[in-house]
Amino acid sequence: MKAVIPAAGFGTRFLPLTKAQPKEMLPVVNKPTIQWVVEEAVDAGITDIAIITGKHKQAIENHFRPTKKLEQALEKAGKLSELEEIRKVNNLANIEFIIQEEQKGLGHAILCAEDFVGDNPFAVLLGDTICTGNPNCTRGLVNMFKERNSSVFSVEHIKPEETTRYGIVSGKEVAEGVMLVEDLIEKPEPEEAPSLLGIQGRYVFTPELFEYQRKVRSGAGGEVQLTDAMRYLAKNDKIFSWRFDGKRYDIGTMKDWFQSHLELSIESEFSSVLEGVLKKL
Ligand code: G1P
Repeated sequence: MKAVIPAAGFGTRFLPLTKAQPKEMLPVVNKPTIQWVVEEAVDAGITDIAIITGKHKQAIENHFRPTKKLEQALEKAGKLSELEEIRKVNNLANIEFIIQEEQKGLGHAILCAEDFVGDNPFAVLLGDTICTGNPNCTRGLVNMFKERNSSVFSVEHIKPEETTRYGIVSGKEVAEGVMLVEDLIEKPEPEEAPSLLGIQGRYVFTPELFEYQRKVRSGAGGEVQLTDAMRYLAKNDKIFSWRFDGKRYDIGTMKDWFQSHLELSIESEFSSVLEGVLKKL
């Protein structure tokens, strides 16, 4: 299975921080957000990955590409642990970069990966979203995909006032936390939302998704939405939602970014720093 990581948006919810710096490159503890996402795919057993990015986001590509001059300089200076660290990043996965020429929406970004994916099932991980948990969210979805042989994606309970930020799902519960999806709506007003289950940004699709995605015209926010292709999939085929109980951080928002930094520090080398700060509160 291959993975597609869309990371081409302008990051408008996070300006001015994202004016020159892609939101996917914002650090969380000791590495950029996008590295957390790539590592999640790798931990789920997926090493062929396409990152869909924009011309304005060269920093993402630079982060994963070998940098000969830097490596030579580190070697010469005897900074071997630093050298090992950056080589680890270079060798994390086989990463291909695909440029989305125009920012026409998430569904359009996914279509840019059609040739890369070919006629195979594939995972999608939003590049600005970190999920933790054991098994990790993508692994959980891959397992469920194998079990049900159908497309599947993760959801979480959201608050009524948050419906305009999410794709919202309705359907029939077929097992604990698993629903056969009947309908999906992208970013509805609270009174139009069919439930309070929001799409989190982790998916595993059969290749038929592309067929439906090609039919989709611009929808919510004037963008070509992935949710609309999933809606076709639900009507013509089968797609399941799965309630993911691990933690999810939307690094497109200041609150989640800040929270992720603190919470993910707890198990890092910086936990004592965090402890010291907390004592001062
Ligand atoms: C995207 C999806 C939406 C999903 C959300 C999760 O929206 O279109 O269905 O609920 O991610 O963050 P975006 O946040 O890119 O506007």
